[in-house]
Amino acid sequence: MRILVTGGAGFIGSNFTRMALAGRPSWRITVLDKLTYAGRRENLEEVENDPRFEFVHGDICDPNAVSSAMRDCDAVINFAAETHVDRSIDDAFSFVRTDVDGVRVLLEEFRKERRTLFLQISTDEVYGSVEKGWSSEEDRLSPRSPYAASKAGGELLAMSYWTTYGTPVVVTRASNNYGPFQYPEKLIPLFLTNAMDGQPLPLYGDGMNRRDWLFVDDHCRALMKVMENPRPGRVYNIGAGQEYTNREVTELILEAAGASRDLVRLVEDRPGHDRRYALDVGLIGRELGWRAGTPFPEGLRITAQWYADNRPWWETIKSGEFGEYYGKMYGRRLAGPEGGR
Ligand code: NAD
Ligand code: DAU
Repeated sequence: MRILVTGGAGFIGSNFTRMALAGRPSWRITVLDKLTYAGRRENLEEVENDPRFEFVHGDICDPNAVSSAMRDCDAVINFAAETHVDRSIDDAFSFVRTDVDGVRVLLEEFRKERRTLFLQISTDEVYGSVEKGWSSEEDRLSPRSPYAASKAGGELLAMSYWTTYGTPVVVTRASNNYGPFQYPEKLIPLFLTNAMDGQPLPLYGDGMNRRDWLFVDDHCRALMKVMENPRPGRVYNIGAGQEYTNREVTELILEAAGASRDLVRLVEDRPGHDRRYALDVGLIGRELGWRAGTPFPEGLRITAQWYADNRPWWETIKSGEFGEYYGKMYGRRLAGPEGGR
């Protein structure tokens, strides 16, 4: 099987590519990636010399790039997206472009040939904030950030191709991933690397927002199962059932990095900050026999070790584009009235 992995130079896509090439000798993978700030060639270094791997630098919004990268591919797994909620609040343009229109471009090319599966990677954020209970796949979508709204647009568009043209689409909605190679703008790698450097940990609001933390390998294993058992028209939730408040995550990070609690700063909240996400994962368990296997403290230990062992990877990022972003996003927050607490 030849698979087009879009966004394969990012966090989850590169973990998926490594796992799939290592575990499935008959699979060939073409990665199509625009290499935005979040996409990095070095994330794929380990597979670079594998004859079953090919890298194409290109944009999923560009029909020509998509057409040549998709040639001879049986299946597509679309990870490519703008993914950071805070950046979407700052400027939604690239989110709508990639996360909605990019999906349209991919689907249009996909349906020109007979292919087996278009797997659209979506997120639990499309359900919006869930104060109580667990979201199931039939629940109403109620996205509340520009990121979540654009991801909802992308998956609804993908599913409309199944309804309208019979395009074999499957959508997955995963909870918060963490693990090696995650760009350090996200909570866990930001706090881990700041803690390792003795820098402040900016905790938004009261720090009591809750997330369900899914180790990236568990997510990738679920996606491999979906690829191998394609059921067009299905939507699957993929979560770990391991909810922690951001305060609890911060405590565990401080412990893992051996850093002081004095580094924690309660700062101005994210606008429209979703309080909680939680998924009912019964369907993927029943149909595909998948469940997450990595306890959060264990996954966090592996992750902390990876960041400790791979300082050059994140120091290069933090001394480049990230520095400007960090100043803009956190400068005022850390200096503001709540910044000292
Ligand atoms: P990431 O930000 O680390 O990587 C995104 C990748 O997409 C990068 O390699 C980037 O260069 C590429 N990309 C962006 N725009 C592109 C374009 N126009 N054309 C081609 N490539 C482009 O993201 P991630 O955290 O690995 O997330 C991957 C997917 O999983 C996304 O669709 C995201 O919405 C979804 N998701 C992420 C999480 C999470 O916790 N990280 C959870 C659920 C779902
Ligand atoms: O739920 C799945 C989603 O998880 C994915 O679809 C997104 O792509 C991914 O970015 C992630 O979104 P979140 O907004 O939940 O992740 P983030 O790491 O940005 O934040 C996690 C929590 O930590 C959230 O409640 C906000 C808080 N936070 C985050 C940062 C970056 C802080 O308190 N301080 C911070 O500096």
